[in-house]
Amino acid sequence: MKSKFFNKETHYHLGRPAHAESISTFLADNFDADKTCLEIGVGNGRGTKFLAAHFKKVIAIEPVADLSAMDIDVFNAKNVELYSVPIEESGGLNLDFDYLICFQATHWFYDFEQYQKFYGHAQKPVLDISTQVKILDQPEFFRELIDKYKLEGAYRGFDYPRETIFDDSYDVVFSADKVAHGICSTSWIDHSAFDEILQAIQQRFGKQEIRARVTTEVKEVGPLEKGTS
Ligand SMILES: C[S@@+](CC[C@H](N)C(=O)[O-])C[C@H]1O[C@@H](n2cnc3c(N)ncnc32)[C@H](O)[C@@H]1O
Repeated sequence: MKSKFFNKETHYHLGRPAHAESISTFLADNFDADKTCLEIGVGNGRGTKFLAAHFKKVIAIEPVADLSAMDIDVFNAKNVELYSVPIEESGGLNLDFDYLICFQATHWFYDFEQYQKFYGHAQKPVLDISTQVKILDQPEFFRELIDKYKLEGAYRGFDYPRETIFDDSYDVVFSADKVAHGICSTSWIDHSAFDEILQAIQQRFGKQEIRARVTTEVKEVGPLEKGTS
């Protein structure tokens, strides 16, 4: 199953949105800093930096080793322990944690039921934090692009509404290039049609910037009720 994960991180690094800074306050208000947090699907550490600044220890899981390269500061922090493995294959690690937090990652896990069993057995608080980017300019054009190229993991803001516990949104502007990278920046797809997609966006927008709204949502998803895991 590991072969699902490609080390093609270029689009990914260029396309990822940042998470809202107010996550720091949210963590401080709700979580005991003296505990261990497990983060799954850490990518290039955009969420990990908030966790490492708050928790005594962070166990970070990321199957694509190149995404969590050791030149990313947070992965060199003393309180961060990094494992390159998919969560479904982490049985041998014997993970011991107090909280489980994922930043925009759960929709990628290849066996979601197994993930649910994992946190169900652990019986620990589980949070799903997602940053969504909703394009404000000509969203129907982007919707068509996503459908045409089957960009399933692309900007989830279009089709991935979630229950909002805390909402922190702000408007940003992107270049056509950045939006194209974002749309193609899925974890395991180095999209073969990247140039075509970039061209289509450039043709439509030229040098004009593209407005988007970034929203951070936090959803409590676990632990599951006893007996369901
Ligand atoms: C959309 S990225 C989010 C990365 C990071 N958390 C962030 O907020 O920028 C999803 C991440 O989940 C990772 N991932 C995908 N499948 C996974 C699995 N089965 N187990 C653990 N991580 C996985 C991907 O490699 C990718 O880094």
